[in-house]
Amino acid sequence: MREGFYSEAVRKKAFDIAGVQSDKLAADIGAGTGFITEGLIKRGLKVIAVDQSEAMLTEMRRKFIGFDAIDYRIGEAEELPISDETVDYVFANMYLHHVESPIEAIKEMVRILKSEGKLVVTDLDEHNFRFLRSEHHDLWMGFKREDIKKWFKEARIKNAIVDCAGENCCAQSGSGDEHASVSIFVALGEK
Ligand SMILES: C[S@@+](CC[C@H](N)C(=O)[O-])C[C@H]1O[C@@H](n2cnc3c(N)ncnc32)[C@H](O)[C@@H]1O
Repeated sequence: MREGFYSEAVRKKAFDIAGVQSDKLAADIGAGTGFITEGLIKRGLKVIAVDQSEAMLTEMRRKFIGFDAIDYRIGEAEELPISDETVDYVFANMYLHHVESPIEAIKEMVRILKSEGKLVVTDLDEHNFRFLRSEHHDLWMGFKREDIKKWFKEARIKNAIVDCAGENCCAQSGSGDEHASVSIFVALGEK
């Protein structure tokens, strides 16, 4: 389902803004079928991929069979299955609008970051497409960039910036009556 929604441009922007370096350890939270993980392992990082859905992780294991740079863990936003201060980067692409409490999810991602580690969240700007809620299980209709900045600050993230990812996320409603095109932001900060 991912292709057609957003593409390589978002992933590249996320990695470039964070200045990802090989041989580091990253967490991909709400990993889905591994779009972010795939880009990270290509750049020589090891990845802990976390998702609440066993089906997603099963699909990911099938897709990346033979790659030993990925550690798959089932887990929830409020209690990530990773110890404190473990990873150099946390990436969360199109994940935050699915969680009940974005501020708690952000704090939990900050908890697993090492000191000076980087948090990169890519998600939707605020929008009015209700079918994304009913058909795509979105809990949040995107976010105001100032809220993301505020939540990063509350979670003790330094030097937060929120920028355009340079792409829109596009989706068609099941009935075919509505077409959503929503801009994507990239938020970066450091622990
Ligand atoms: C839209 S998909 C994005 C997948 C992936 N990050 C990508 O870039 O393609 C959102 C993912 O977040 C996971 N997810 C949603 N809510 C979650 C939660 N509360 N805890 C953990 N994972 C969650 C879903 O299972 C799904 O795989």
